[in-house]
Amino acid sequence: MSSRPLFVVLGLGDGSGTGSAAARVFSQAGYRIALIARSGRDTAQKLADELNNTGGEAAAFPVSAYNYATVHDVFGNIDRHWPNAQLRAALFNAGHGVWKGFLDVTEEDIDAGVDVNIRAAYSFSREVILRQKELPLNDKGKRGTLLFTGATASLRGNVTTSGFAPGKSALRILSQSLAKEFDKQNIHVAHSIIDGQISTARQRNLHGEEWSSNPDNKLLPESIAQSYLYLVDQDRSAWTWELDLRPAHEKW
Ligand SMILES: NC(=O)c1ccc[n+]([C@@H]2O[C@H](COP(=O)([O-])OP(=O)(O)OC[C@H]3O[C@@H](n4cnc5c(N)ncnc54)[C@H](OP(=O)(O)O)[C@@H]3O)[C@@H](O)[C@H]2O)c1
Repeated sequence: MSSRPLFVVLGLGDGSGTGSAAARVFSQAGYRIALIARSGRDTAQKLADELNNTGGEAAAFPVSAYNYATVHDVFGNIDRHWPNAQLRAALFNAGHGVWKGFLDVTEEDIDAGVDVNIRAAYSFSREVILRQKELPLNDKGKRGTLLFTGATASLRGNVTTSGFAPGKSALRILSQSLAKEFDKQNIHVAHSIIDGQISTARQRNLHGEEWSSNPDNKLLPESIAQSYLYLVDQDRSAWTWELDLRPAHEKW
């Protein structure tokens, strides 16, 4: 039985963004990796195969959608796959929103955003904390770390973000509430403001060659993931609740 600590990540996109980069970085750092992604995508299984073929230990856990019940249930699947695993680090990486004028935001848009950014995040946090609070302290003096990926919209609304920013800001305040409540139990909760565009395949296709080849205008998923590992490795005498990451030439 492997004694690697477990890292759970929810939200892998197409495999080129932050969630997948975090899975690779934590796998290299010696974690077992549970990959939660919406079913119908083969990203999670492909990534699990990649990690298993490069010395890691990973498994894919598909869900039909992100909501309270699906996230609750998928943690049961992870427990059955790796009984007694020590869930030392977890990343809630999914985000959903629409970019349009306020009067065009529909009730369906609101429901989808609330399901992903709020209901799924509550459920994920609950499942992680229930497991981490039972763990012994590790060599950093903590039981585990719970990470959230935020965005500029976590802090600031704008003309086309009424269908996105409320969800991201809710996630941020949830994470702060959890940090205040569970720090005392030596569970480290941290939120990252990603204040710029991430170099995912989708963004590179959208912005074209000139944008893609400029090294100063976007965040590399691998670099975000290294920052997440840094947060997890912080000892409890000095840990971060909120990290704020932006590329060197972001116009802020
Ligand atoms: N891309 C950027 O420029 C940027 C900038 C700042 C912050 N962020 C944030 O960074 C995180 C990672 O984004 P990324 O760009 O690296 O990856 P991404 O490809 O944009 O995927 C975002 C994540 O959200 C989930 N998602 C997307 N649309 C969804 C929908 N309609 N319903 C349910 N889930 C949905 C995806 O889950 P599945 O894996 O299951 O498909 C995916 O994991 C997100 O929280 C995002 O808000 C992104």
